[in-house]
Formats: sequence, structure tokens, C-alpha cells
Amino acid sequence: MSDNALSSCRAFVFDAYGTLFDVGSAVAKLRDSVGDEAERLSATWRQKQLEYTWLRSLMGEFADFWTVTGDALDYALDQTGKKDPVLRAKLMETYLSLDTFPEVVETLNTLKAQGHKLAILSNGARHMLISAAKSSGILTLFDQIICVDDLKTYKPHPDVYQLAVDKLELEPAEISFQSSNGWDIAGAGHFGFKTAWINRTKQPKERLSHEADVVLGALDELLPLITAPKTA
Ligand code: LAC
Repeated sequence: MSDNALSSCRAFVFDAYGTLFDVGSAVAKLRDSVGDEAERLSATWRQKQLEYTWLRSLMGEFADFWTVTGDALDYALDQTGKKDPVLRAKLMETYLSLDTFPEVVETLNTLKAQGHKLAILSNGARHMLISAAKSSGILTLFDQIICVDDLKTYKPHPDVYQLAVDKLELEPAEISFQSSNGWDIAGAGHFGFKTAWINRTKQPKERLSHEADVVLGALDELLPLITAPKTA
């Protein structure tokens, strides 16, 4: 075992969208129907989805992630001149069965077989997370699927990260949090988690108060950094 920030962690907690699930696969599945604006539609949809979670949290006007995802899609369809109720419905449907990134299933299986506690901590609505996890065959690998439906605010609010501490009954520093979103890593590090930024697309680091403990190119790069927990 190499001695690093994650080596003593007792649970591995994962962001969902963009980290386990490839949000780009939603528009990619319907590329022929969307046409030449596919990339712009996909990027605007994701950006507005995130912005609306943060803005609604600041405004104290929570709406669940399914609603926010639909509102963001409406903005993106409007911007790209693709307003069409049938296409909208099909795109929303894809969110319930997004592809996982190629290394995700094997990495989770390995971590689980080593005896680690695994959880999802996501801004996603519970029904969305359950559906996508079930459709990709990873649902049963998790000890907890933790979502913000009851809390009614979104990451990076510290109360959201606290949910994982409460549900897993661990100290923040015993939890390794994996996210592809730099802002989520900053929030999780600020809260006190150990953090692994899964920077698949080589984004520049965020200029926020906390930097990742480790930066990885894909989730499976976690495996050499950790070992199985000791059994009593
Ligand atoms: C998540 C999104 C915001 O929390 O990436 O899963």
C-alpha cells in the first residue's frame, strides 16, 4: 500500500453525474434526432442544470433534480432552436439509463470485493439515481444511495456532505469522495472529506479554497492507492 491521503479511508463515496454516469451519453444516444447542434445542446443542458441547482439553493427555492434537469433542457432546446416535445421527452428518458464510463463497473466491483463501504452522494433525485444505477447493474454494489430530496438544498452546501457522515457513521476524514466536478471536490474538501478529483478531460483546477488530495485521469487509478480494510 502506498502511503497517501486515501490509504486510511474506510468508505468511498461517489458523485453520480459526470463521475459514474456519462451525462454526454444522453444527447449522444439521440444524436441523429438532434443533428448539428448536439454538442452545444449537451453542454448547455449540463451547464444550466448545474447553475439552476446552485441558484435555487441560494434563492431558497428548491426544486428536485428531475425538475431542474427538465428546466435546463428547455433552456438548451430553446437556445439551439430545437424545441420539440417528443425530442424533449426522449432526452429526459435517457437520463434514467445513462451509460457509465468504461472503467466504472469493474472499479466498483473491485472496491466492493475488497470490503470497502461504497455510496453515491448526488444532487440527483432518488428515483433518477436508482433507475440509472439499476440499468447499468451497479445498484447492488452500494451500501447507501444518498440524495438531497429531503434536505432540499444542493451540493456544494456543507449540509449535503454531512448526510454521508450521518448515514455512514464515519468521520469526514475517513471518507474518500470521488467527483469529476472540480466545484464538488472543493466543497467536499472544505467540508473535511479526503478527495479524489477524476479529471478525465484535463480541466484546469478550480480557483476555490480547497484542492483535491489526488487528481486522477479515471476512476480505476484509485485502486493502486488503496488496500482492503483490515478485518477484526
Ligand atoms: C451530482 C451531479 C451534480 O451530484 O454531478 O451527481
